[in-house]
Amino acid sequence: MHNSSSSLPLISRKAQGLSGRLRVPGDKSMSHRALMFGAVAIGETTITGLLEAEDVINTAKSMTALGATAARGGDGVWRVQGFGVGGLRSPDAPLDFGNSGTGVRLAMGLMATTPLIAHCVGDASLSKRPMGRVTTPLALFGARFEAAEGGRLPLTLQGARSPVPVTYTLPVASAQVKSAVLLAGLNTPGITTVIEPTPTRDHTERMLKGFGARLTITQEADGRHITLEGQHELKAQSLDVPGDPSSAAFPMVAALITPGSDITIENIMLNPTRTGLIETLLDMGADISIEDRRMAGGEEVGDIRVRSSRLHGVRVPAARAPSMIDEYPILSVAASFAEGTTRMEGLEELRVKESDRLAAVEAGLQANGVTTRSGPDWLEVLGGGAPGGGQVVTHMDHRIAMSFLVMGLASHLQTAIDDSRFIATSFPDFTGLMNRLGA
Ligand code: S3P
Repeated sequence: MHNSSSSLPLISRKAQGLSGRLRVPGDKSMSHRALMFGAVAIGETTITGLLEAEDVINTAKSMTALGATAARGGDGVWRVQGFGVGGLRSPDAPLDFGNSGTGVRLAMGLMATTPLIAHCVGDASLSKRPMGRVTTPLALFGARFEAAEGGRLPLTLQGARSPVPVTYTLPVASAQVKSAVLLAGLNTPGITTVIEPTPTRDHTERMLKGFGARLTITQEADGRHITLEGQHELKAQSLDVPGDPSSAAFPMVAALITPGSDITIENIMLNPTRTGLIETLLDMGADISIEDRRMAGGEEVGDIRVRSSRLHGVRVPAARAPSMIDEYPILSVAASFAEGTTRMEGLEELRVKESDRLAAVEAGLQANGVTTRSGPDWLEVLGGGAPGGGQVVTHMDHRIAMSFLVMGLASHLQTAIDDSRFIATSFPDFTGLMNRLGA
């Protein structure tokens, strides 16, 4: 339960240098998908390394409410019992997705082509976020929605009884929209096609193939065409979820900006649709090396060694945005310690994340004495070091909270955040882990 009266402020102070080897929790995108695909596969899917954080736990509860059981064994392994692509049933109570856009949007896709009725709710942050981007394509399959004003949560979904396949060109670069459409295609006869003009994270495609879905991908002049032949059963799988690069981003930047640091983050997923931050930090002069690159669970993984570095400002092109969309808050913190200006472009999607991240980041930087400039979809951060001393408003956004705690490790004065509770949506032991490294 989150209410403002019990918010948990937190401060962060200058650190001496971070050192050690660490692991971060499992990838959030893969964790949601593993539970959902397991819920519509036939048989028992087993998952190790699942991210046990609020967002993903809400997905597990929702899958159970829809008739598939998803539970953690005493051995730490998650087991999901699925009953086929049309096997979901109406839940008895509203499905509560908490803070998670991925949870609710992918689940809507999964439910849209099965004749069930579900009431979907979320917290105050999620209730502000646009759902029209998924309800519009899902309605083309025959699903019906009754949403709150502006197409937002709370929302009632009525799945199509006789779904018709759809060809849909993504109007926004969003893996959530792509995934919702593909998941609706699972229980639809015929061929569902998604055309993706700008590539976004491809975990849905990779993992669905692993579950035996009939999915093909071709590169055409207008983008990637992903086609799915519906109403073929999926087979339960055994999955191992590697570490989340979006969580690794916080200790990574912390080590770069805190003098005297040398850390190694083990077993991080390095899918090229997720590594834009590493690419950008390397451009900025970061001392980052990837050790022991290997394949695990259909994804490239490796250990990331990071040593404190003198960074310089760069221009981050719009084309890179989808591969680092969740990393702009922490990149902005790195940029405030770089020499010169960093300009980030193509940021329009930041406006509709857990908070308006462009506004929240800019306000947090300014509160800590960093000079910024911005436009509707761009941000410039003038580097040279952050004085600190500010109080940051986190707007129920885990990534804003963690970013400004990282800033405090290297700023002159301490930084403070108004509420640390939302860190639990993606990285429950963040503070403990950072403190063990020397924060
Ligand atoms: C996600 C996709 C991204 C990202 C989110 C996770 C996913 O959202 O911001 O944290 O797992 O598909 P969009 O697809 O809306 O950009």
